[in-house]
Amino acid sequence: MAMMESIARSIARMEQLDLAGKRVLVRAELNVPLEGSKVVDDSRIRATLPVLAAASEAGASQVLLMSHLGRPVEGLPIAEQPQFSLAPVAARLSGLLGFEVPLLDGYLEPGFAPGTAPVCLLENVRANVGEKSASDDLAARYAALCDVFVMDAFGTAHRAQASTTGVARFAAEACAGPLLHREIEALGQAMRDPARPLLAIVGGAKVSGKLELLRALARLADHVLVGGGIANTFLRAAGHPIGSSLHEAGLVEVARELMEQANIPLPVDVRVASDFRADARAEVRMVEDVAAEDRILDIGPATEQLHADLIASMGTIIWNGPMGVFEFPDFAAGTRRIAVAVAESSAFSVAGGGETVAAIERFDVAAGISYISTGGGAFLEAVQGVTLPAIAALAERAANRAKFATTKSATIKFATTNTPPEKPCP
Ligand code: 3PG
Repeated sequence: MAMMESIARSIARMEQLDLAGKRVLVRAELNVPLEGSKVVDDSRIRATLPVLAAASEAGASQVLLMSHLGRPVEGLPIAEQPQFSLAPVAARLSGLLGFEVPLLDGYLEPGFAPGTAPVCLLENVRANVGEKSASDDLAARYAALCDVFVMDAFGTAHRAQASTTGVARFAAEACAGPLLHREIEALGQAMRDPARPLLAIVGGAKVSGKLELLRALARLADHVLVGGGIANTFLRAAGHPIGSSLHEAGLVEVARELMEQANIPLPVDVRVASDFRADARAEVRMVEDVAAEDRILDIGPATEQLHADLIASMGTIIWNGPMGVFEFPDFAAGTRRIAVAVAESSAFSVAGGGETVAAIERFDVAAGISYISTGGGAFLEAVQGVTLPAIAALAERAANRAKFATTKSATIKFATTNTPPEKPCP
């Protein structure tokens, strides 16, 4: 993270550029959950409003927003896979802005004209051939749509694709938007010299999906709380019976090693059911009493209390993943208690990941969390210390421009002392 932060400091920021009268292309993170044509959670859309406000205040002539939605087939028109259309996002965005945001297709066709709307949304970039492989041809065609490219999609910054990294190389100017910048700042605050003690809360189904995250946090954090199927693998590693619970037998040894390296307080009691059903009734068991037919679906009340006490004494909290199957009414208590405890703590708290954000919404604790990331995979990679490719691409771009600027102004100085030096590149 320290590395990514120092790289991020070198990149141009939107407010440093002159946008007056310019066409601005913003890569946003508008990959939102949908039910049919209804946006289930619009937090990523709302997180895009600041970049639009900034462009408008800076006098940009027009903003073209681009994003992916889901994982459509590349090369197949969106009309043939309409479930991946950004139409519901355009509608929601129009509602939030109070004016119509047209959804534009055909923006790669020769002679494309975006019209005069101040903000337009381009249809799903992932249907474009070459998006995922970051083709130079596609990246150059995106770049031709604008005078300035603004990368603001933190949630997709871990993907090296034509609309995230490629276009940054070809656009006349490229910079980071306010959301991207804020995400890096908040993660930096949690991870670079954090107020101690630092607590990491890692929940979710599988250790395998979060192994690198657990390894990184085991090194960094003073305490790591585990939940969900991940906790079951740890309980088994500690020699407790886990009955028929979801766990990963192949990672029990890894869990044991992590417990030797880090302070990972395990649940002392759990809520179990014999079936994995939304209407299953919970029974509380001490961890040593879990029976063969039991499935552990949540932490128990004594564990909730212990975890809440620990959370209350922390200086910094990084939270990713639920404690149990909180979508089932009888198994929501553990995640709810943790969510409330994090929100009530005076620690600097950072939360990220789809399930975590869903839990924060469900238990209505957003106001108490210091920073809620819009990233899922990007959040996990950033916390692991990976320099996200989109940030690296902007940094490379800034370094090349600085080199270019130095060479150019040196040439000018050499040629004639009367020529004023060029305005330095941001
Ligand atoms: C996300 O939702 O985490 C991002 O939009 C990235 O989506 P992807 O995993 O399909 O690249």
